[in-house]
Amino acid sequence: MRTPLIAGNWKMNTTLADAHILATGIRNEAEHLEQIEIVLCPPSIWLTEVAHIVPPRHYSHLKLGAQNMYFEETGAFTGEISPLMVKEVAEYVIIGHSERTHLFGEKVPFLAQKVRSALDHSLNPIICVGEDAKAADSKRQLVHTLEHLTVDLTQVELEQIVIAYEPVWAIGSGTPATPDYAQEVIAALRRVVTEKTRMLYGGSVSDQNSLGFLSQPDIDGLLIGGASLKIKTFITIARQADDQIVAQKSTSKQP
Ligand code: PGA
Repeated sequence: MRTPLIAGNWKMNTTLADAHILATGIRNEAEHLEQIEIVLCPPSIWLTEVAHIVPPRHYSHLKLGAQNMYFEETGAFTGEISPLMVKEVAEYVIIGHSERTHLFGEKVPFLAQKVRSALDHSLNPIICVGEDAKAADSKRQLVHTLEHLTVDLTQVELEQIVIAYEPVWAIGSGTPATPDYAQEVIAALRRVVTEKTRMLYGGSVSDQNSLGFLSQPDIDGLLIGGASLKIKTFITIARQADDQIVAQKSTSKQP
């Protein structure tokens, strides 16, 4: 069984004090949600601070991630952070979020280098793919993009990465994809990777619609933006995922 993953992408939000309160609140509330993995992705400038609250490799189920990184280890790359830096405070890194591709012009070959670098530095990339607008051939295009992003990965690496399907039209719009549609696209994307690869949905996830996604056979978790900034909402979603696993385990034990 794939361990569900609930990731919170804080984007460019929170003051230092907010980040402290949010991380502490989530850590305290998430203490018993050990059936799932929770990944907090604060702004990179707060990662070290949040790592004091959620120390790297201290919890088996509570982890940190960076929202982005450059692929080189060190050097004259003003404004960037490197895999060596991320590794000291986090275990995951989001790569290719649509805000990076749309607002900062990051392209597939560049993103593929970041994926390679993350894996070479024992970081788990959360690779984002999603279409701009609903179009008849969008599923085929996404499959094509994911093939390019993962072309040189070994079988073991394909199992280690996380894929987040985030339709751009659903991000921050209040209009999520339907769970059935997300399942259909994610099932197609899964064929590019492996049965063991965790696949997330992201885009206007709330505590009202999360269960619909989590109930789909190929959706292993959620990448949450806006709703990850509220302790109660984020924990409600995480608890739904955890409860579901507990329920599945008890059903599978029945004769
Ligand atoms: P949203 O963002 O939940 O606010 O739509 C999701 C994301 O961009 O990862």
